[in-house]
Amino acid sequence: MFSSLSVYTLLALSVCAANAFPQYQSLAGLTRDELDAVVPTLQYSPPQPPPGPLADDSTKLVNDAAHPHMPLKPGDIRGPCPALNTLASHGYLPRNGIVTPTQIMNAVQEGFNLENAFARFLVFSTFLVNGNPITNLMSIGGATPLTGPNPPKPATVGGLNSHNNCEGDTSMTRDDFFFGNNHDFDEARFQNFVNFSNKFGAGKYNLTVAAELRHFLHQDSLMRNPQFSLVSPRLFTAYGESVFPINIFIDGRQKDGQLDLTVARGFFQLMQFPKDFHRHDGAISNEGFDTVYNKYPIQPGGNTKGVNTYKADPTSATLFQPCLRYTDFVNKNIKALYPNPTGLLRKSINTNLQFLFEATAGDNCTQVFPYGKDN
Ligand code: HEM
Repeated sequence: MFSSLSVYTLLALSVCAANAFPQYQSLAGLTRDELDAVVPTLQYSPPQPPPGPLADDSTKLVNDAAHPHMPLKPGDIRGPCPALNTLASHGYLPRNGIVTPTQIMNAVQEGFNLENAFARFLVFSTFLVNGNPITNLMSIGGATPLTGPNPPKPATVGGLNSHNNCEGDTSMTRDDFFFGNNHDFDEARFQNFVNFSNKFGAGKYNLTVAAELRHFLHQDSLMRNPQFSLVSPRLFTAYGESVFPINIFIDGRQKDGQLDLTVARGFFQLMQFPKDFHRHDGAISNEGFDTVYNKYPIQPGGNTKGVNTYKADPTSATLFQPCLRYTDFVNKNIKALYPNPTGLLRKSINTNLQFLFEATAGDNCTQVFPYGKDN
C-alpha cells in the first residue's frame, strides 16, 4: 500500500498536484501515520475532463516541423500500439512514453483524427485497468516506477503491455502473450501481413485482406496457443485493429482504402509517419469492422483444454452488444482490480468511470456504479 517511505521520498517532492498539503512544508517530524496519510495526497493528480471533438477535423499535414521523428533515448518506453508509439516518437505524446488520458485524447485526435467518443472509450477503459488513478499516469508499454507508487494489489498498473484489456491474442504484428513477447514488433507476423496483402490485395492492405488475415490469425492461435482467448473486451479491439491501418494509416488525401506496405512497416515497426503525412480527412474510428467480421463470423470464446479446443463463451458481449461490453468491463474487469477502493483512489476511479460512461452516449447504455455514487 502507500506505506513505503523509501519509494516516496524522491517522488513526493517532484510530482503532480499537491492538493491537501502544501509542497513547501517539510515532512520532517511527521509520524509514520501522518506520513501515510499525507504522501498519497502529494502524489494525487486529479483526473482531467477529456477534450471534446476537434473544431476542425479536416485533413492536414501532421508530419510537420514541430513534430520531428526522433530515435528512442535510453529509458524511452514503447509498447504494442503502433499508433501511440508513432505519436510518442513524433512528440505528439511525451517521448518517454509516460502519458495522461488527456494527452492521449489530444494526440490521437490531432495526429490521426480518431473520433472523439470512440477515443474516449478506448482511452478510459485502458487507463482504468493499466494506468495509475492516483498520479493520472500510464505507460504506453511496460510497467515502470515513473507512473508513481502503485495502488494496493490486485491492481496492476502494468501499462499497455498488460495482457488484460486492449492487449490480447491474434495481433497482426505482435505475438500472443502465451509465446512470451506480446508487445515488440515481430517480423514473422508482419510477413503474414505482407503475404496476405500480396495474395488478396495485389500488394496493398485493404478490407479484403483484413478479413482474410483476421481469419488466419484466429486459426493460427486456435491451433498453436493452448490459452487462446477472444472474448470482450479484446474481441472489440481485435476487430478495430484490423481496420485501423486502412482508416488511419493511409494518407488523408488518398481515398482508395489501399495501404502501402512500406507505409505499414513505417508505423508498425519504425514508429514513424511517412514523409509529408496528412491525417485522415474527418474523424474516423472502426468503420469497416463489420465487413471483416461478416466474412468469417465467430462466437466469442477460446481454447479451454489445450490447442484446438475452442469453446464459445455465451457470457461474453458480442461485437454488436456495446452496452454489455461496458457493463461487464466495469463490473468484472475493473472490479477485479479494485475490489474496494477508498478515499482519493475511489474518487479518481469514479471520475474516470464517469468519463468512460459518457463515451457510450450513442449506445443508450444504463450507467453502473460499482463503488456507489459520489455526492
Ligand atoms: C489513432 C488511433 C489508434 C490506432 C490507429 C491504433 C492502431 C493499432 C493497431 C493497428 C494495433 C494492432 C497491432 C497489431 O495487431 O500488431 C493496435 C494495438 C493496440 N493499441 Fe492501438 N491504435 C490507436 C489508438 C489506441 C489507443 C487510444 C489505445 C489506448 C489508450 C491503444 C492501445 C492499443 C493496445 C493496448 C494495443 C495492443 C493490442 C494487441 O494487439 O494485443 N490504441 N493499435
